[in-house]
Amino acid sequence: MAKRSNLTVLQLLPSLVNPAQALARPPISKFHVGAIGYGSSGRIFFGGNLEFPGLPLHYSVHAEQFLVTNLSIHNESKLEYVAVSAAPCGHCRQFLQEIRGAPDIKILITSAESGDDNSGLNRFDPLLHLLPHRFGPEDLLGGDVPLLLEHHHNGLSFLGETEILTNDFKLNAELKVAALEAANKSYAPYSGCPSGVAILDCDGNVYKGSYMESAAYNPSMGPVQSALVAYIVGGGAGYEKIVGAVLVEKDGVLVKQEHTARLLLQAISPKLEFRVFHCASGLNACKKS
Ligand SMILES: *[C@@H]1O[C@H](CO)[C@@H](O)[C@H](O)[C@H]1NC(C)=O
Ligand SMILES: *[C@@H]1O[C@H](CO)[C@@H](O)[C@H](O)[C@H]1NC(C)=O
Ligand SMILES: *[C@@H]1O[C@H](CO)[C@@H](O)[C@H](O)[C@H]1NC(C)=O
Ligand SMILES: [Zn+2]
Repeated sequence: MAKRSNLTVLQLLPSLVNPAQALARPPISKFHVGAIGYGSSGRIFFGGNLEFPGLPLHYSVHAEQFLVTNLSIHNESKLEYVAVSAAPCGHCRQFLQEIRGAPDIKILITSAESGDDNSGLNRFDPLLHLLPHRFGPEDLLGGDVPLLLEHHHNGLSFLGETEILTNDFKLNAELKVAALEAANKSYAPYSGCPSGVAILDCDGNVYKGSYMESAAYNPSMGPVQSALVAYIVGGGAGYEKIVGAVLVEKDGVLVKQEHTARLLLQAISPKLEFRVFHCASGLNACKKS
């Protein structure tokens, strides 16, 4: 597209914000936010905001979080540029701090464009200007801890794989493994309580989502929300097509997803079947709840 219109990819980014807004599902605010990200590999990522009627507002997913989730799904290790339809809210400025080099991420707000400046690049402002005096991972973690988009695995496992599959939940085994894979990729350096969710739609497709934490805690992104982003990225339509979900997390830990995950899943697809499996780091036993 850039070649055809004789632009650099960066100059093209703002024009993709509009199509990104089409990803948004904001039935409460009706305010469609679109975000476009440019990763260090040169790939482009889209994001839209998601809202869930019947639940508290803080279950929502912001467009920038949606975007970062797709980077994570596709193993993109760095986010370099973002073009977004409205000024990033404080929550998103904070969430982006989990990415290595966050202060240097360049942000362009398309609703703030003057229109007569078509230089393309100059309107990108570093995140540092949007969030000075930042509180971030280095305030709580050692410098050698892998950050949000960096490669890490939590080395989680089930033990005693003897469960007999029931007819009512045919893909149980596949979902379970997918949820463990997602938990393995979960970014939970603050609580040490990684988790992952896998969801199944009525066509038999599986989508995975990893829990991602924020140094400021509240902007953390739940594993169901991540899985719903994967669902939309993968072409998933209405949430009512989601028929099953599995959560994998550790047992007896301080930060648990089970109850909020169940609430969110029941709100979006009341008939789906939800299972929770426990895992552990290393060789500790795991059991079904
Ligand atoms: C997710 O990322 C992949 C890889 O860059 C891309 O092909 C796809 O269009 C992206 N989807 C969204 C919704 O960002
Ligand atoms: C991301 O990396 C993991 C292993 O590091 C791999 O299994 C997975 O297929 C990769 N995902 C994509 C979308 O490239
Ligand atoms: C989770 O990570 C551990 C350690 O890296 C690995 O042995 C295991 O196969 C992974 N499990 C899944 C389902 O990816
Ligand atoms: Zn936001």
